[in-house]
Amino acid sequence: MSGYEQVVDTILGRWKSQILYAGVKLGVFESADKAPKHTSEIARELGLDASLSYRLLRALASMGFLDENNDKGFSITPQGDLLRKDHPQTLRGVVLLEEGPEHYAIWKHLSAMVRDGRQDGFVREFGLRIFDYLPQNPSYADVFNYAMSSYSATHTKLVLEALKGYDFTKIQTLCDIGGGHGHLLCNLLAEHPQLQGTVLELEGTIKDKELLWAEKMGLAPRCRYQAGDMFREVPRSDTYIMKMILHDWSDEECVRILSNIQKASPPGGRIFVVEHVVPGPETPHFAKLFDIHMMCALTGRERTEKEYAGLLEKAGLAFVRTHYPQSKSIGVIEGVKR
Ligand SMILES: C[S@@+](CC[C@H](N)C(=O)[O-])C[C@H]1O[C@@H](n2cnc3c(N)ncnc32)[C@H](O)[C@@H]1O
Repeated sequence: MSGYEQVVDTILGRWKSQILYAGVKLGVFESADKAPKHTSEIARELGLDASLSYRLLRALASMGFLDENNDKGFSITPQGDLLRKDHPQTLRGVVLLEEGPEHYAIWKHLSAMVRDGRQDGFVREFGLRIFDYLPQNPSYADVFNYAMSSYSATHTKLVLEALKGYDFTKIQTLCDIGGGHGHLLCNLLAEHPQLQGTVLELEGTIKDKELLWAEKMGLAPRCRYQAGDMFREVPRSDTYIMKMILHDWSDEECVRILSNIQKASPPGGRIFVVEHVVPGPETPHFAKLFDIHMMCALTGRERTEKEYAGLLEKAGLAFVRTHYPQSKSIGVIEGVKR
């Protein structure tokens, strides 16, 4: 891509993500198949207007999510496959959340926030912080929690890779703070049979038992879901893990969460913080963009390794090292109670 084309591609980036959102929301990737299917058949199956559907499918094909033949037939590509409900690494939830109406709306506050120095576009748009808005808006909560499991499909693999070779044999209990439906914790339990796990979560997130990974993976006897508030207290455990939690919160809020973990940990207890760690200026990284999303959505931010080490320190914990998968797309920061 030339420099000029790159600029235009970025200017019009939202067109692409909104086209993709419409395709996912309408069920295009569940209807399309490996063999070409005519537009009229896809439109009939999904209850859509055939003529406008053709234009949407053609745009999706132009972006590489479908293949188009000369007879208005479309088949799914490997990229399109990643948007299907039944793909093990499905990104469907991520599209529905990040391009859905709430997250679409919060970005319009970005320039005003940068001008006046007050972040959290969610409060500007909806008058409530995201975790207060969630219980009052069940359809948004469903999309949010589905997206967290959808993100986890990728993150969990990266965490397992980063911690491959780590000696888990001395750990008996592992608590996932804000662990969602338990995708990461259950995969760690599956890998390490001596572990017992607890997910600490807001009550609303864990009330529907059918969505919990412990049930789906047959791990219910080893995995407990506890409703609670990490800002008040956390369950006792040898070791803690928290994925995409600290990036939601300001430094002061992070220190409150980490201090509760410090209080509940035994001496020598470990904590693993899974985040997109911001690298130096020479390295372009997804973390630097996700950081802006955090500015729009909450009081949080993405941080460098040094900044995470500083937060651990303030809570009475010591930084040990960061474990990375080969891609370095995420990092697992290890801390210990002194
Ligand atoms: C960004 S999501 C990350 C979920 C999960 N760790 C993952 O990576 O998929 C943040 C999670 O923190 C939970 N949460 C928010 N406030 C909480 C609190 N005060 N106590 C416990 N969990 C909380 C939310 O319900 C949500 O599941």
